[in-house]
Amino acid sequence: MGRLIVVSNRTPGRGPAAGGLAVALRKTLAERDGFWFGWSGRLVDAPSNEAAFEDIEGIRVGKIDLTRDDHHAYYAGFSNSILWPSFHLRLDLATIEGHWYEGYRRVNTLFAQALLPHIEENDVIWVHDYHLIPFATELRHLGVRNRIGFYLHIPFPTLDALYAIPHNTELMRDLSRYDLIGFQANRDVSAFAEFADHQSPSTLSGSPLKSVDFSRTEVAAFPIGSDPEAFAKLAVSPAATKMVRRMERALGDQSLILGVDRLDYSKGLPQRVEAYEKLLANNANLRRQVHLLQVAPPSRDSIKEYQETSDTLDAMVGRVMGHFAEPDWQPMTYVKRAYGQPSLAGLYRLAHVGLVTPLRDGMNLVAHEYVGSQDPDDPGVLVLSRFAGAAEIFEDALLVNPFDTDETAEALRLALDMPLDERRRRWERLMEAAMAHSVDRWAESYLARLTPNGPDGKPAPVR
Ligand code: F6P
Repeated sequence: MGRLIVVSNRTPGRGPAAGGLAVALRKTLAERDGFWFGWSGRLVDAPSNEAAFEDIEGIRVGKIDLTRDDHHAYYAGFSNSILWPSFHLRLDLATIEGHWYEGYRRVNTLFAQALLPHIEENDVIWVHDYHLIPFATELRHLGVRNRIGFYLHIPFPTLDALYAIPHNTELMRDLSRYDLIGFQANRDVSAFAEFADHQSPSTLSGSPLKSVDFSRTEVAAFPIGSDPEAFAKLAVSPAATKMVRRMERALGDQSLILGVDRLDYSKGLPQRVEAYEKLLANNANLRRQVHLLQVAPPSRDSIKEYQETSDTLDAMVGRVMGHFAEPDWQPMTYVKRAYGQPSLAGLYRLAHVGLVTPLRDGMNLVAHEYVGSQDPDDPGVLVLSRFAGAAEIFEDALLVNPFDTDETAEALRLALDMPLDERRRRWERLMEAAMAHSVDRWAESYLARLTPNGPDGKPAPVR
């Protein structure tokens, strides 16, 4: 079997910040003598075009530096001000600057050129996420004939949103240069199929997308997950217990409703606070009985739309506090900071309700982590957006339309009132689903499809 090369914008870091993806792929990378490749996190005036390799907690990682201008056009610009809002169906929040596309392509070219000398004949290359859609095209131009797979961690857009993206034809042609495209959910496969169907000659007239040939690309859903058993252990670890004790003292008899999200407009945070406001307004008996803790580490804060989301939320939290707080009671706590996994696992376990209500989300791993962290004897309830990829897996959550804040408020009330036997029944099925979709199984099933089956593991045919 050939080596595995994983390519993504961010590379694994040291310490507890190392994401679930890094932990999950560490073993596979070691077994297959592979490495991770991506941006170093450094912005310099004159970057070298050669990658620097180092070992990071058992993972061999090759990194390249970028200039500030290239990084801005590629990351804050094309990736996060055009692709991210469009793929999340927020065209109203997209900013289109023509020159960002050049920076986006240039960074993909630089990445490919720097990776090229390190590719061996039978290597399998696994590219992650929307920052790197053109990566296979760039490698193919350089003569690479290896198997190359792409995995999209965010949702695939509807046709209208796709057509609103500048250079959408090139981007879709870029996708067709992969051997395998993995999506989070069946929803995304269907959206992609709708687009691919539009490619038939009879429907082409008037379409800005001239036929892109996907006949050599395999497409399927591979829903990502977490490591629920690791979260179960982490949630009772000393570090988690320390956080739980602190919180228990602060909460007294109140039931905890918990939200944990990057501060991103796709997460539906203003709608969530509004739903909580309605819960308190409609159920006076719940005041002093419940507490909402929203953890929201800032993200991509050089982008105006992220700053505006943050301002909106500040104002809404202020409104809820002003309206419902009393000298000796506060309805909610809002923390704009990141916490390590042990503390989060403790909070998940303590929370009576895990409130996960993105307006649109690729998967949402907080939902998986919440399920994994529950006490089997006294589990909490997951209130989950229908528009998270996780909703296809977690049918036993209380599923809500996050735009309908009355519905979310009512789901919160039901969750807080839910009898123990129903909580147990639901949680057992949720935990089964979380285990069936663990991150290990995800990587295994994707790589089983991407890796050539032949006894000699021959590379894919020339294209
Ligand atoms: O899930 C989508 C994603 O863009 C990941 O690729 C990324 O690790 C995460 O969100 C955080 O975003 P960023 O890397 O922009 O901080």
